[in-house]
Amino acid sequence: MQDFLTRLPKAELHLHIEGSLEPELMFALAQRNGVALPYASVDEVRAAYEFDDLPSFLTLYYQGMAVLRTAEDFFDLAMDYFRRAHGEGVVHVELSFDPQAHLSRGIRLDVQVEGLTRAMRLAERELDISTALIMSFLRDRSAEEAMEVLEQAAPYWELIDAVGLDSAELGHPPSKFAEVFERAKWLGLPGVAHAGEEGPPSYIREAMEVLDVCRIDHGVRCLEDPALVAELVERRIPLTVCPLSNVRLKVVETLDAHPLPALLEAGLTLTLNSDDPAYFGGGMLDNFLACQRAFGWSRQTFVDLARNAIEAAFMSEERRDVLLTRLVAETN
Ligand code: ADE
Ligand code: ZN
Repeated sequence: MQDFLTRLPKAELHLHIEGSLEPELMFALAQRNGVALPYASVDEVRAAYEFDDLPSFLTLYYQGMAVLRTAEDFFDLAMDYFRRAHGEGVVHVELSFDPQAHLSRGIRLDVQVEGLTRAMRLAERELDISTALIMSFLRDRSAEEAMEVLEQAAPYWELIDAVGLDSAELGHPPSKFAEVFERAKWLGLPGVAHAGEEGPPSYIREAMEVLDVCRIDHGVRCLEDPALVAELVERRIPLTVCPLSNVRLKVVETLDAHPLPALLEAGLTLTLNSDDPAYFGGGMLDNFLACQRAFGWSRQTFVDLARNAIEAAFMSEERRDVLLTRLVAETN
């Protein structure tokens, strides 16, 4: 099964590129840039990754990314991830990035975008990984600031595939960003949003109805509202579920207790993703393997999940055809 799950062409739709920063690279970049770290060793960093909830993780996540200063740093970060993902059979990656988390440290948007997009082009050429870029807004900051960042990104609108919404969820409902997502839609940029990770089902509904998103990131709390589940099923809105993340952020107690089997049973369009692989104990393959161990799913279930991701991805129809054909060839 490990062999099968490695070969399965996997599309990753929910990845915070800053959350792919492995402690080894964190140390290398800290040294390169003369940034002091509050850790003495790589082991000490890993030992610090014990989280009680989403906010306790976010503190270390924002702290860790302080080593990213130049376009080269963003390039190295993304290439490091693409190489690992390639080794796990990942064929398409949609990177979210958090521009405000860098702008607030004085790192210009052009520096961020140049580094990330250069890595994306190289991954496409050298690793045959297709990529998409999602510019995410921090929901615990103001809507005005998000709108300013969207406008500031005018030179890069062509390079961005969608806008997203992340960071601390509770107390920051999607409706706070109605105008920002309206403006993005007017610009031709689709929206995705984290909702129903720690927040209530009503946030999922708002993301669908007020922001008109085409995917929900996480969404696992939808099961608390059967009418919402029915709507998600009816509209075939994909949920980008992140099993190991949910365990590490204590959204669920254990993977065995994860609602994934119930979400599948409900007929929802699900995809499996890694969220912040450097912080949550593994990438795409680890997430697939953990689900296999916890739920004993058949090959067909994994093929269905992989197909959902390819069908829900921001990619050309040409590329989608190639990957769907490869999915059939690899799994027959
Ligand atoms: N930013 C990075 N990872 C996140 C997560 N799991 N939820 C919300 N914001 C995030
Ligand atoms: Zn996330």
